[in-house]
Amino acid sequence: MKIAFFDSGMGGLSVLHHAMKVLPHEEFIFYADEDNVPYGTKSTADVQRFVGEAFDFLLKQDVKAIVVACNTATSVAVAEMRRRYDLPIIGMEPAAKKALDMDGTKRVLVTATPITVKGRKMELLIEKVDKDHLVDRLALPELVTFAERQEFNSPAVTDYLRGELAQFDLSKYSSLVLGCTHFNYFKDTLRELLPDNVQFVDGNEGTVRELIRRLKERNQLEHNPQTVTYFYSGRQVTDVVELERLENCLSRLEKMYRI
Ligand code: SIN
Repeated sequence: MKIAFFDSGMGGLSVLHHAMKVLPHEEFIFYADEDNVPYGTKSTADVQRFVGEAFDFLLKQDVKAIVVACNTATSVAVAEMRRRYDLPIIGMEPAAKKALDMDGTKRVLVTATPITVKGRKMELLIEKVDKDHLVDRLALPELVTFAERQEFNSPAVTDYLRGELAQFDLSKYSSLVLGCTHFNYFKDTLRELLPDNVQFVDGNEGTVRELIRRLKERNQLEHNPQTVTYFYSGRQVTDVVELERLENCLSRLEKMYRI
């Protein structure tokens, strides 16, 4: 059986990329909802509908677990999917607690999409972990658009990020949380703009660890040759140009992995 990774677009590849390193004997499906990306600027009801449609498709593909490799979809739809379906469904959590635990005295900047930043799930998380009021939040929706058009490193990306970060005194921060899987593509530009001591924190490792824990619990880890099948909104990707685009994203992520 396969493990599905689902995202609105190319961001979820960053979670798949990590899973491919630590699970070399699994068969993966990567599903990007390219017809509906971006999610983060749409209504909650629309995103819930898109996620429901993706799950309807994925559940017909002989999957043993679904990783919702999208913070926005996790924020508004994972709870309902878990109520409906009896298989491991692993979501993304903005790693605010991990970031606070790393220092505990300096500020933490959580970046995500507008839906995630304003969502109830984020409110509850901050209430729970941020007793000293050290967490600030910043929506960076344009990064999703840049990532989707493969514009990873350009003057426009730098100008956008510089403009958005200008409102913060960055010397007061110890970490920046990448609370949207699309943001992993921009670590080099962010690195140039942030003071050296500001560390990146993302939820990818934690999510894959949880996936492995759930599969072990069910005795469902396998020993097959690793494969990945790609789908865009329910259509298998076979077009060479699109497969190259996916490869290009993965090689970009390989570079960003080390930053
Ligand atoms: C988006 O589609 O706006 C990004 C989704 C996410 O990873 O939060």
